[in-house]
Amino acid sequence: MLRCIACDREIPDGIRYTCDCGGLLEVRYDLAATGASKEAFASRPPGVWRYRELLPVAPDVTPVSLEEGNTGLHRCKRLASELGSGPLWMKNEGENPTGSFKDRGMTVGVTVARELGASFVGCASTGNTSASLSAYAARSGMRCLVILPVEKIAKGKLSQAIAHGAEIIGIEGGFDVAMRLIKEACDRYDIYLLNSLNPYRLEGQKTLGFEVVEALGWEVPDWIVLPVGNAGNISAIWKGLKELRELGIIDRLPRMAGVQAAGAAPIAAMVREGRDDFAPVLAPETLATAIRIGNPVNWPKAIRAIKESNGTALAVSDESILSAQRRLARQEGLFVEPASASPIAGLEALLEEGTIGADERVVCVTTGTGLKDPNIVIDRYPDPIVRIDADIEEIGKVIAHERS
Ligand code: F0G
Repeated sequence: MLRCIACDREIPDGIRYTCDCGGLLEVRYDLAATGASKEAFASRPPGVWRYRELLPVAPDVTPVSLEEGNTGLHRCKRLASELGSGPLWMKNEGENPTGSFKDRGMTVGVTVARELGASFVGCASTGNTSASLSAYAARSGMRCLVILPVEKIAKGKLSQAIAHGAEIIGIEGGFDVAMRLIKEACDRYDIYLLNSLNPYRLEGQKTLGFEVVEALGWEVPDWIVLPVGNAGNISAIWKGLKELRELGIIDRLPRMAGVQAAGAAPIAAMVREGRDDFAPVLAPETLATAIRIGNPVNWPKAIRAIKESNGTALAVSDESILSAQRRLARQEGLFVEPASASPIAGLEALLEEGTIGADERVVCVTTGTGLKDPNIVIDRYPDPIVRIDADIEEIGKVIAHERS
């Protein structure tokens, strides 16, 4: 069953992305009837489908899967001590099969697509969504159309869509234009839309929160800090954790902090200015291309998550994102893409302004691997490579210099 978050209307399951009133849809369960429990989860291996009582797929359906989820929750003591934060963990979503958290949504979204009889799926993307959808479409033998702001996509992500055989349309405008076009294309040409406007896809993404609390022994952190682009993930994680609390599996909820890049921060602006009206950013710009989005479709769900959780949103500069990326790589061995480093930049600012206390337990979500966007490092970091003649004496000189 689907339910409109704006007018509360219930809508039967089917190919539907928004309500007649224009509101966003979410999947509703009769939670008590699902049979979800810690024991039921523990009877299955780790990963997205461990939590299948809380996923919108019948028990006898074999999912379209690449064994997604079960990503590491890494305690980061060195970084915590440098930032002056309490216990800190990274939920490192770059460990998913296509290198980002999107796989959690796509295993569910593409499985539902197949159950609904779709044979052609599509999305607009800043890169990761298209990489993930093209892989899952390939695995299930579906056609896949992706519309991309092709000049602003990290090459690793584009190479994935090409490798998996997606039909790729590159446009001049940004993600927001691509999003508008794919919605129209899906309506007109009978393509199943798998952006995070799709309520079933978001159900897969909520398992990220389930894994966090399960890994902490069903304890809930004080904060979950994550990047916000099209605003699906923050909404999904919040929805899932509310369901766990309703079921009595956890006894409290975290506060949600959404981090945006300063040049693409309409949700942070709304929250920080205390406004209820949403104003899109018309020409979003940031080197964190994954979250270069000015008109996030899920903003009402994200604002709800932030308000209900007594959370916050904030904008961070590109420079602070780069510096957070470098710190995480050098202090904790985790190489993440710029968008994924934004929560660390955000955490630093939230600690500084006192929103997050120095004794609070914080989980940051690093949403995607750094390997997809190598040019950021190669072009933007100072070049550390010492070029010498192939000679052992020269190496000795370099080492002596580094030691001095
Ligand atoms: N981090 C990464 C690495 C992303 O790729 C995205 C979104 C986000 C964070 C933001 O998540 O949209 O749920 O708020 N990327 C989308 C894409 C837009 O097309 O790959 P969100």
